[in-house]
Amino acid sequence: MALYLITGGAGFIGSHLVEELLRRGQQVRVLDNFSTGKRENIDPLRERLELIEGDIRSYHTVRQAVHGVEYILHQGALPSVPRSINDPITTNEVNVGGTLNLLDAARDAGVKRVVYASSSSVYGANTQVPKREDMTPQPISPYAVSKLSGEHYCQVFSRTYGLETVCLRYFNVFGPRQDPQSAYAAFIPKFASGILRHQELTIDGDGSQSRDFTFVRNVVEANLLAATAPGVGGEVFNIACGASLSVNEVAAHLAQLCGTTGRLVHGPSRAGDVPHSLADISRAKERLGYEPGVDARQGLAQVVQWFQEKFSREGRP
Ligand SMILES: NC(=O)c1ccc[n+]([C@@H]2O[C@H](COP(=O)([O-])OP(=O)(O)OC[C@H]3O[C@@H](n4cnc5c(N)ncnc54)[C@H](O)[C@@H]3O)[C@@H](O)[C@H]2O)c1
Repeated sequence: MALYLITGGAGFIGSHLVEELLRRGQQVRVLDNFSTGKRENIDPLRERLELIEGDIRSYHTVRQAVHGVEYILHQGALPSVPRSINDPITTNEVNVGGTLNLLDAARDAGVKRVVYASSSSVYGANTQVPKREDMTPQPISPYAVSKLSGEHYCQVFSRTYGLETVCLRYFNVFGPRQDPQSAYAAFIPKFASGILRHQELTIDGDGSQSRDFTFVRNVVEANLLAATAPGVGGEVFNIACGASLSVNEVAAHLAQLCGTTGRLVHGPSRAGDVPHSLADISRAKERLGYEPGVDARQGLAQVVQWFQEKFSREGRP
C-alpha cells in the first residue's frame, strides 16, 4: 500500500483518481482549495481519505502535503482557456507557481514520482494531425502556456535534481461529475444536461470541428500506469482515445441517447478554436501499456445515464 497525494482531488478528474486508488486499496491524501472542485465529489469517500484544504500557491501548505508521500498525481490547476484569457496572472500563479512549489517540495521529500496533468492545448496553432509528442508546441492561450511551462519544470526537475516526473497531455476529457454549470463549462456536460432539460443549445460555428474526446476512466488508467511504469521518468505522453468525433456528431449522439432531437442552433465560431484535434497515442501504448478501454460513444452513454440519475435524485428537470 502506497500513499498518493492527489492535488485537485475534489475536481472532476481528481475525484475519479481518488475513487479508483481507494478501490485498489491505496492510501490517499487530497490537497484542494475547492476553487473549482466540489465537496460533493469526495464526500462519499471522506472517511477513507486525508483532506488538506489549502492552496498549491502556499509553499508551506505544499510542504506539509507531500510529507511521507510516494506518488503525486498533480491535477490541481485552473483548467480553463477562457478564464486564462480573462485573468492570465492568476492562471499563471496557480498553474505554474503551484506546480513549481509542488516539484520543489517533492524533490526535498524524496517522492518517487510526480505525474503531471498537462493538456493537448499545448499543440495550439500547430494544425498537423495526429498530434505527436515530438511536434513543436505552439500555445495560443495563457492556459496553454501555463501547462507547457509546468511540463518544462517537470523535465528540468527530472534532469537537474533526479526527481522522476511524467507529463500526460490529456485530450478533451469528459465523464460523470464534470461541471455543466460553470461559466467555463466544457461542451459535453453542458450539452448532455441541456438536452435532458430541453434547453436550446448553441454549437460554436458549423460544428464540423473535431476532437479526440477522452472518457475519464481512460485518463485514470493512464495516471496509474504513469505513476509506476518503469523507465519513463522525464517523458511526455498523449492521453486520448486515438479517434475523433465532430461536435455535430457528439451533439447528435447525445440527443439520440436522451431520446430527443435536441434544440440545437449554430452560433459564431469561438476565437482561437482549432479545426481538428486528434492524438497519436502510440507512445503511451508502447511505453506505459496504455489502452483506451472505453471509447467516446460508450463514455457518452455513461454521462447521460449519470445526469439522468442525478436529475431524478434531485427531482428535476
Ligand atoms: N478536463 C479536461 O478536458 C482537461 C484537459 C487537459 C488537461 N486537464 C488538466 O487536468 C487537471 C484536472 O482538470 P479537471 O477537468 O478535473 O478540472 P477541475 O476544475 O474539476 O479540477 C481542478 C481542481 O484543482 C483545484 N484547484 C484549483 N486551484 C487550486 C489551488 N490554487 N490550490 C489547490 N487546488 C486547486 C480545484 O478546486 C479543482 O478541484 C487540470 O490540471 C487540467 O489543466 C483537463
